[in-house]
Parts: sequence; C-alpha cells; structure tokens
Amino acid sequence: MAGLRDAREHRRAEILAGRADAVGRQRARGKRTARERLDLLLDGGSFVELDLFRRQGEGPATDGVVTGSGTIDGRRVFVYAQDFTILGGSLGAAHAAKIHKVMDLAVANGAPLVGLNDSGGARIQEGVMALDGYGGIFRRNVAASGVVPQISVVLGPCAGGAAYSPALTDFTFMVAGSAQMYLTGPDVIEAVSGERVTHAELGGAQVHGTRTGVASFVHPDEESCLADVRHLVSLLPSNYLEPAPSAPSRGAADDPRPRLAELVPAEPNRPYDMLEVVAELVDDADVLEVHEDWARNVICALARLDGETVGIVANQPSVLAGVLDADAAQKAARFVRFCDAFGIPLVTLVDVPGFLPGTAQEYAGVIRHGAKLLYAYCEATVPRVQVILRKAYGGAYIVMDSRSIGADVSLAWPTNEIAVMGAEAAVNVVHRRDLAAADDPGALRGELVERYRERLMHPYYAAERGLVDDVIDPARTRIEVARALAMLRNKSVAQPARKHGNGPQ
Ligand code: HXC
Repeated sequence: MAGLRDAREHRRAEILAGRADAVGRQRARGKRTARERLDLLLDGGSFVELDLFRRQGEGPATDGVVTGSGTIDGRRVFVYAQDFTILGGSLGAAHAAKIHKVMDLAVANGAPLVGLNDSGGARIQEGVMALDGYGGIFRRNVAASGVVPQISVVLGPCAGGAAYSPALTDFTFMVAGSAQMYLTGPDVIEAVSGERVTHAELGGAQVHGTRTGVASFVHPDEESCLADVRHLVSLLPSNYLEPAPSAPSRGAADDPRPRLAELVPAEPNRPYDMLEVVAELVDDADVLEVHEDWARNVICALARLDGETVGIVANQPSVLAGVLDADAAQKAARFVRFCDAFGIPLVTLVDVPGFLPGTAQEYAGVIRHGAKLLYAYCEATVPRVQVILRKAYGGAYIVMDSRSIGADVSLAWPTNEIAVMGAEAAVNVVHRRDLAAADDPGALRGELVERYRERLMHPYYAAERGLVDDVIDPARTRIEVARALAMLRNKSVAQPARKHGNGPQ
C-alpha cells in the first residue's frame, strides 16, 4: 500500500507541476497557468478536479484542459480551463470530451459554467475529430442557454471556430494584451486579400470591447478579470428556476435621494451622465456595466436594488445625446433577453430623442436591430419598471419598455416629454405651409411650438391617458422603483404554446 500511495502521489505531482519550460514560456507571455487561474476564480480549496489522468493515446495527461467544479462565494460552479502549456491548449477528442462532461454536469446540477479559454484551436494532428469535439461544445452551449448562466473568459488565443463558443454564451470576458479572438488569423487574411493586420488590431480585447461587441467585459489583467467574473456570478441565479442570491434589504422603499433631482437638468437638450443617476438609484453605487465601452449611448448594467439583483437599461444622454442606433439596440436586446431568461427584473430609464437618422444606420440594418430590442421587451415576462426622466420620442419611446409593449409599472418625472417627436420638429412638419406663408415665421413658429407643448407634451398628458402610472418626485425614484419591484415580486405569466418564436436576427 505504501508503495502504491507514493507512486500515486508522484504521478499526480508530476502532472500538477507541468513542464517547467512550457510554464516558463507561458509566464514570459504574461499569462498564468490554468491552475493558477482557477485558484483566482474559485473559493480557496474548493476545486474538485475531474479527469486528471485522462489523455489521448500516449499523449500528456489532462490533454491540455483542467476540468471540474468549485465554489464562488460558497455557490457551486462548473469550470474548464484550457492549458496552453500542453499542446498549446489545442482541442482534441479527449480534451473535448472532458469539456462536454463538465457542461453536462453544470446543466444536471443547475450551476453556472465558466470556461477559461487559452488555446491554439482545433488540434491539427487529430483532424476531423477535433472539429467534432467543437461541434459537441457548441451544441451543449445552445442546450444550456437560458438554463444555467454561461460565462466565457478569453485569456489567450481563441481563434477559428473556437470563437463561436464564447459567442454562444451569455458573457465574454477578455484580457487586454493576451486575449485574441478571430475567425481567420492575420496570415490567412494576408494570403487571401493582401491585407496586413496584427493579431491585436484584428481581434484584441480593445477591438472586441469597443467596436464589435464580442467582448462584454475587458480587463487589463487576469486578476481583475477573474475577480470581476466572481462579482458577476455573485449577482446571478444558479439557474433559470432559482432566484438570484439576495443581499439584506437596504430600506430602499423609504430612502429619498435628493441628488437625483440635481443630476438631471430640466432643459431637455442639456447632457448629463446617466451613469451617475444609475449609481444613485442602486445599492452602494455598485454598478456592473456590461459592454461598458461598446454602444455607450445605452447603458446595460447589473446591480442590486434593496438587496435584489436588477437589470438596468438606460439611455446615456452624454453620448450621441442618448439616441438609439443599431449597436445600442443589439446591446440592449441581448441584455434584456439574458435578464428575462434568468428571472432578473428590468428597470428601464428613458431619456431618448429617437433613433439615429442616416444612411449609415439604415444600411446597417437598424430596422432589424431595433426590432430585436422591441422583440426582447415584448417577450420579457420578468417584472418591468419604466422610468421616463425627460425625452421619450417616437419609436424609441415605444421600444424603451413603454406600457404598450408590456411595462408593468411606468413612472415619469415632471420633466417628462413623451411625444411622437420634439415640439420644433413637429411644428415644422405639421405647419410647413403656414410657416412658409407667414410674414414673421419666427414668431409664428414660437407660438405654434408653445401651443403644441401645452396640448400634447405637458408632463401629465400620458398619465391622464393611462400610459404612465404616476408622475413622481425625482428625489423619490429609488423609493418608487423599490416599491414597484416589491409589488411585482410574485409576477408570473403563462407563455403561449409554440416551439419557439422567430425573432429578428
Ligand atoms: C496542435 C498546436 C496548435 C494546434 C498550437 N499548437 N496550436 N498544436 N494544434 N492547433 C502547439 C504548437 O505546435 C506549440 O507546440 C505549442 O502549441 C505552442 O504554440 P506556439 O506556436 O509556440 O505559441 P505562440 O507562438 O504563442 O502562438 C500561438 C498561436 C499559434 C497563435 C495560437 O500556435 C498558432 O497559430 N497555432 C495554430 C492556430 C490554428 O490555425 N488553429 C487551428 C484553427 S482552426 P510545442 O510542442 O512547440 O510547444 C480551428 C477550427 C475550429 O480551430 C473549428 C470549430 C468548428
């Protein structure tokens, strides 16, 4: 027995230590090993490894991926971490089978899945079996979608079809400097079209965090990245049937915030930072923004309100005056769908002048993308509270969770301007002939604008017609939203029988 125990210990220790030269190269690239990353991600001592000895034929043990389960703040998660020091973390049949196993366990146990990606992609030596392995991951990503939260963390290369797994999951984290995602690399691009581009320019964290929206979160280093994954998990339910973990109530239902009234200028066109409003509204000003640097004209954030997780969608008047465009609509639509899938109530803060006009937007398919946001809200059955701070014009008013598409509670500030369009624009359209014929068009326009405002844009117009439940004191917004969410806590809506909808893509 003693000999067998020693031999076992020796064998395990050898595998756990890894190859010194390869580990050295990993560090020289500024990257940690797979096991060090799992130590940062999981509660100390909680990791239970599976398939340590598994290998492909006579290849190295683990087959280049560390899999298993552990806890984050005491809550179970399933994990895999690709190990670039073994065969470049490339994915072969055994590697894929290990990932398939933890994905199946995550779903069976109703626990989130976190994948740490650092891989040269399909293992070239294993040919089509590697592709088959990827297919099995993608199929499981889709089967688990809306069942358990799925989080991808990209800490190295994630190229070719491998990039589709993060794209199928709920959130993708990237670390600047080391993470890269693209379907075809710089060499192939140059061979095909002559275009020369670096790895970072093509698919670095900056590009995906600001231009493409592929990365939901970008971090400067692995520590802050994995700490943020922990923060995100702490706000999410383990699966679609369970509520998100609660923090103690903060007495928000009786907590006036006079600063809310000071943050927002009453003049409709003066910009301000909506993020400050969000911070004032939620507990401890603790706001986890998704896609912080992409489509910044809309804010999507997770936070707690009176101890409970909420999803916040808000126009950002300090960027492009808060207009909606194709990117903003896609960003918000995906966020709304995530919150709805996992039972997270939605709070929508509206201050929107409309959709961005222009050929660039129309050619980018803003109709299709705007429709995604509409579809996502229309479909959402979670508690939904809309707050209209100032402008809410036209189609943008409708898609920002208006009463007509299913908001449960709609609140407006006395500064609200809910209308088909702004007064000046409306007068120019309706009274074009009168203005052209007038001796003093300026004076007439002023008069007509005033009349339009009084008749159609006064702050009680929508409330008198049932589209707004109450016109509230801005300083009481946190109170009123907390009360509305408490009222809606047991909301339950039967879904129509159908296979699945066919939303705009
Ligand atoms: C087998 C691989 C590998 C792969 C890397 N390695 N990628 N082995 N299959 N796909 C091995 C290398 O041979 C090397 O082994 C070790 O991993 C480290 O790789 P380096 O090249 O030394 O590292 P680095 O210079 O940092 O470059 C990283 C890299 C490069 C940019 C990822 O390795 C690379 O371009 N690899 C090929 C990428 C690729 O074309 N993959 C297939 C994509 S297609 P040694 O023994 O020397 O340490 C794909 C399809 C998926 O993935 C489809 C799904 C539907």
